[in-house]
Amino acid sequence: MRSGNQWFCALDIILWYPLSSSRMHLRQAVGSHTIARMGDPAYESLIRDATIDDVPAITDIYRDAVLNTVATFDTVPPTIESRTEWLQHHGGRFPVFVAVVDGQIAGWASLSEWSDRGAYAYTAESSVYVATSHRRQGIGATLLAAIEARARELNYHTIIARVVATNETSLRLVRAAGYDDAGLIREVGYKFGKWLDMCVLQLTLPCTPDSNARK
Ligand SMILES: CC(C)(COP(=O)(O)OP(=O)(O)OC[C@H]1O[C@@H](n2cnc3c(N)ncnc32)[C@H](O)[C@@H]1OP(=O)(O)O)[C@@H](O)C(=O)NCCC(=O)NCCS
Repeated sequence: MRSGNQWFCALDIILWYPLSSSRMHLRQAVGSHTIARMGDPAYESLIRDATIDDVPAITDIYRDAVLNTVATFDTVPPTIESRTEWLQHHGGRFPVFVAVVDGQIAGWASLSEWSDRGAYAYTAESSVYVATSHRRQGIGATLLAAIEARARELNYHTIIARVVATNETSLRLVRAAGYDDAGLIREVGYKFGKWLDMCVLQLTLPCTPDSNARK
């Protein structure tokens, strides 16, 4: 669990992404807590590390996916408490980002632990969820770019995305972000009365194994 001080440190790095037709242009502001307008003032946006205050919005977005889609294999809708606990188990090597558009949380993304076994120290799993009201605006792609940028900083080698085989939208999204197909696990999930296949995709990043990695 992260201390209050650790949360403060996480906020020290704020990633800014103008979301426009020429999206993916990435600027980083390090050591600033100031929110500035960028680009079109009618579409102010940024991506930053999530804080505890973002939990209600993250929960709402995720609840919609749990209840109405097979994008997640979670079947129990999240509560504020369960998502708070989830967020508290992230941070550091397992960041959570939110996309803020016109002051509203429009989406979130995370890098989560793939396994606690030592040899997986350079591997993590990415997730991205965008509110239905804010889709097709480049937010999902921008969140994935934020995940990749942080994964490079954190010296990860392999980022895995698990995408249910029927989720063409997400498959397009992660393939466009450079993930390669790594395999298919057949009938690994059962939700809404159907067996579901899972595609596994991976993004491979340059990485130098070092002695600071988790043992
Ligand atoms: C998948 C999801 C994150 C995409 O977010 P988004 O902000 O709408 O995506 P973007 O606008 O950044 O689109 C990026 C790319 O994804 C693909 N894409 C996104 N929405 C699409 C759609 N409705 N149909 C086809 N392709 C789509 C396209 O390749 C698109 O690039 P393009 O606009 O240049 O064609 C969003 O639909 C979502 O939250 N879905 C439910 C949860 C989910 O499936 N999460 C992934 C599982 S981890």
